[in-house]
Amino acid sequence: MAEELIIATSNDKQERYKTLIPQIESLVAEEADLIANLSNIAAALKQTMNFFWVGFYIVKEDQLVLGPFQGPIACTRINLGKGVCGTSWKEEKTILVPNVDEFPGHIACSSAAQSEIVLPAFKNGKVALVLDVDSDKLNDFDKVDQNALENVMRIIERLL
Ligand code: SME
Repeated sequence: MAEELIIATSNDKQERYKTLIPQIESLVAEEADLIANLSNIAAALKQTMNFFWVGFYIVKEDQLVLGPFQGPIACTRINLGKGVCGTSWKEEKTILVPNVDEFPGHIACSSAAQSEIVLPAFKNGKVALVLDVDSDKLNDFDKVDQNALENVMRIIERLL
């Protein structure tokens, strides 16, 4: 495992993701434990992209349950179809929210969060977990984030 994360100095987020993603591949390559890998992925994303909150909710029976994350404490359980995470789970797709106040049913774990992106990872055709990223700025996520984070989800799916 790499001992140190190399972070692109560029302010261009595409560049930062480009440097990060191969390192995520090698971070998880030698480790079989899912929680250990999700923990390092959350930390690597936080360190590289400086997200306000980044972490996982894992499908357990009929709820999403808080998994490894970086940032302020968060709500622990989310029902199917509730909030942005529960909607991503139910609709089985990435949800990009430019302004959380305009998303019906948004669950505010922190009043500082203003925009959000949630992406699902699948096992045997079903959502197994979601990655949730919150920003304290409005309109902070776009197609660059979506494409890069979807690549991270495809890496995670190989671990499930
Ligand atoms: N905002 C999310 C809840 C999780 S926290 O943001 C960490 C939602 O609406 O599902």
